[in-house]
Amino acid sequence: MNRAAPGRTTKRQEETLNSSGKTTDAVRLTDVRKVYGKRDNQVVALDGVTTQFDRGTFTAVMGPSGSGKSTLLQAAAGLDQPTSGSVLLEDHELSEMNETELTKLRRDRIGFVFQAFNLLPVLTVRQNVTLPLRLAGDKPARGHVSKILDQVGLGERKHHRPSELSGGQQQRVAIARALISDPAVVFADEPTGALDTRTARDILGLLRHASETAGQTIVMVTHDPVAASYADRVLFLADGRLAGALSSPTPESVAERMTHLGAFVDDGPLPRLEPTRREQR
Ligand SMILES: Nc1ncnc2c1ncn2[C@@H]1O[C@H](COP(=O)(O)OP(=O)(O)OP(=O)(O)O)[C@@H](O)[C@H]1O
Ligand SMILES: [Mg+2]
Repeated sequence: MNRAAPGRTTKRQEETLNSSGKTTDAVRLTDVRKVYGKRDNQVVALDGVTTQFDRGTFTAVMGPSGSGKSTLLQAAAGLDQPTSGSVLLEDHELSEMNETELTKLRRDRIGFVFQAFNLLPVLTVRQNVTLPLRLAGDKPARGHVSKILDQVGLGERKHHRPSELSGGQQQRVAIARALISDPAVVFADEPTGALDTRTARDILGLLRHASETAGQTIVMVTHDPVAASYADRVLFLADGRLAGALSSPTPESVAERMTHLGAFVDDGPLPRLEPTRREQR
């Protein structure tokens, strides 16, 4: 796979610029705050986050446990209402949408891989994966479903139920389910957390491929500097605030930043998945 040269726009970005003249951001957060709990028990999970995710880009979100990563993803995907601030997704202001409109937008435009996989235990792998399509009233094309299941390495397991799968296999079902409807934006909360190195590499390659060829916008939470190096950019969160960004990340540059955030203990050389494309060039 060839990585687009820095500064070069992807196909989807060019189309967006040429045809509509609209901005290239798929998601834009402005001064987003999320406070959980009441008075004495308040937790400020997000403390005024302003950022954007351009169309066709792959962003990794990193930060210590409890820094607000999952909260950020859920706010950006319209799964959780921020206490204040604005979230624009493809020119829709989420705070102005009612629950029915939000459900439709999430169903049609957004794929979400949850930190806990949220699979339905009574459905098979295939039924779990095709659920978003069937909820939308679409009949899943057999070839398309098989292709996605093969891509995540579950072609042989499609008639099994989640309880019959390993943690990593369940995670791959959740990833297939997020990709099945060809969403414009995919939010993935630690999608490779439960995977072995080889499977993780395959999934990361799949996400990168989706951003490069299909022009999908990928936002992925991860604790792993190697996984983050597959992204175009890394955003760092600390205590609910943005604590920096890194373009063209390498495992080493990410690990160094994380060490400074106190989120990552540097204890020797990093395990390698594969050279990133930048290193191959
Ligand atoms: N429903 C909730 N009610 C109260 N506090 C919450 C709730 N959800 C999250 N929090 C708090 O908000 C803060 C941010 O949580 P969040 O889940 O976004 O962290 P995170 O960065 O995803 O952490 P991790 O890496 O452990 O998944 C934490 O202090 C957490 O305890
Ligand atoms: Mg989390």
